[in-house]
Amino acid sequence: MTNTTNANGAPTAPSQSPSGAIANPFPFPTTNFAPGGPQDIETFRKNAKEMVDFMCDYYKTVGDHSTLSRVQPGYLAPLLPKKAPEDPESFESILADVQQHIIPGVTHWQSPNFFAFFPSNNSFPSLLGDMLSGMINCIGFNWMTSPACTELEMIAMDWLAKLVGLPDAYLNTSGVGGGVIQMSASDASVVAMIAARQRKLRQVKTEMEAQGKGDEFNEQDVIKRMVFYGSDEAHSCHKKGAMVLKLNFKTVAADDSYAVKGATLKKAIETDVAAGLLPTFFVGTIGSTSTGATDHLSEIGPVCRDTGVWLHVDAAWAGSAFVCPEHRELMRGMVDETTGEVYVDSYDFNPHKWLLVNFDCSAMWLKERADLVDALSIMPAYLRNKASASGSVIDYRDWQVPLGRRFRSLKLWFVMRSFGAKGLREHITKCVNLTRYFETLVTADDRFELIVPRTLALACFRIKPSVLSAHPGLDVNAVNKQIADGVNESSNFLITASEVKGKPEVADPATGKVAMVYFLRVTIGGWSEEENVRGVWDVIRGQADKVLAELR
Ligand SMILES: Cc1ncc(COP(=O)(O)O)c(C=O)c1O
Repeated sequence: MTNTTNANGAPTAPSQSPSGAIANPFPFPTTNFAPGGPQDIETFRKNAKEMVDFMCDYYKTVGDHSTLSRVQPGYLAPLLPKKAPEDPESFESILADVQQHIIPGVTHWQSPNFFAFFPSNNSFPSLLGDMLSGMINCIGFNWMTSPACTELEMIAMDWLAKLVGLPDAYLNTSGVGGGVIQMSASDASVVAMIAARQRKLRQVKTEMEAQGKGDEFNEQDVIKRMVFYGSDEAHSCHKKGAMVLKLNFKTVAADDSYAVKGATLKKAIETDVAAGLLPTFFVGTIGSTSTGATDHLSEIGPVCRDTGVWLHVDAAWAGSAFVCPEHRELMRGMVDETTGEVYVDSYDFNPHKWLLVNFDCSAMWLKERADLVDALSIMPAYLRNKASASGSVIDYRDWQVPLGRRFRSLKLWFVMRSFGAKGLREHITKCVNLTRYFETLVTADDRFELIVPRTLALACFRIKPSVLSAHPGLDVNAVNKQIADGVNESSNFLITASEVKGKPEVADPATGKVAMVYFLRVTIGGWSEEENVRGVWDVIRGQADKVLAELR
């Protein structure tokens, strides 16, 4: 066969090969796949092994870095070329730049000295599962796009539900409820709101039809009357979700322990019903971000059921702890203990926070999957297929906002198999017991107080106001802020500070206004050892010594 071109270099009519096939007249370079090229398998094999070495060395020494990156905004652009290279660059030169320019700009979430936010604990089995997911790289929106991607997720989510003591109603095998992996607790919240909105629309439509007013049903009018509630201590993602969906979100006040009471929610619902509104959704929290508070679920569940309000429970961080039965007290109220009725319509927690699965993996369960699928199912011609049409498979694209989805269950499955329930319990117990140890260090220093009782692996504490009694007018919040900033600026440790409303007894007698309480927060994840816990306490105490000495 011959390729011929005309005077301008354009291909002319292709010649016929002896076999009768038309020869390709469109030649292309093949250097990418040549030995040493970026798509050469043997080059990949060699580079991948080097990458694993790099990763192991990183994990061995990550505690030596400052946990908080010290770079300044805009640090990276002057260090890198202004545009992508014309010629291929070697793996070695890219990795050298990672070491020199990228690692300094990394805040080390996997450091044993990371005590900030909530942990986002990685693990080696999870990394291996994620590598495999990257290798397969299917886009598993429908069952048929990779049956294993859907079916392993169904199985892994059922395993996980059993591992953390969730009711059977949530199992995929129930055929009614089911579990799905979302990217984040924020996504789970949006999806739960969509399902709640759908259910309420259906209910109102059915009622109007029963009253012979079906013709008057107007979806937009009904949505405008809907109310979505969350505590003032709930994570901001829920308010954001309502913003995205343009839904009316109202805050319900938490009590002195930063938890919502059933009676408070009931009152808010009754007030809104009297005003002609449609209470639709409440998000309760197990283990709030600021203080680890848990809403009074056993009071809230019946209120939501009786008023037709969808109850979503966000246990983003704390949910991992329920692999240990002794911590399941916090889940109390999700299910009626006498009748077994499940009050919680949707439940979510992040194995990517505290269950050794690397980001992203947010585990969400629904009591009735139909509400969600009804709301999100859309079937253009190019997605139609025999399996979906048969109704015998789950198409997870109908359980989430995006179409595409990664094979995330692999890493979760790797983690559950590699650690076993026993290993996961050991991990949680270690974190909780190290935090109990930290708590004893805090309480042994009479300058400090816990602002709320420890929850699992979260301790919230501050310098007591009484320590500053010799300095009238001095703001205790400012002193605590100075200590927190000092820890993060001067050491390899990273902690977080937060602020909550003070207790009513600290209200200003003149104005009745309750002051905000600024506090330090230490939460312990899977990489930390006793020496790191002692280390961070020594630094906190040292900063307190310094700040208090400067006052004298
Ligand atoms: C209680 C709670 N809910 C939700 C979130 C948001 O999680 P995500 O980043 O998965 O959306 C967090 C994050 O820390 C959280 O603590």
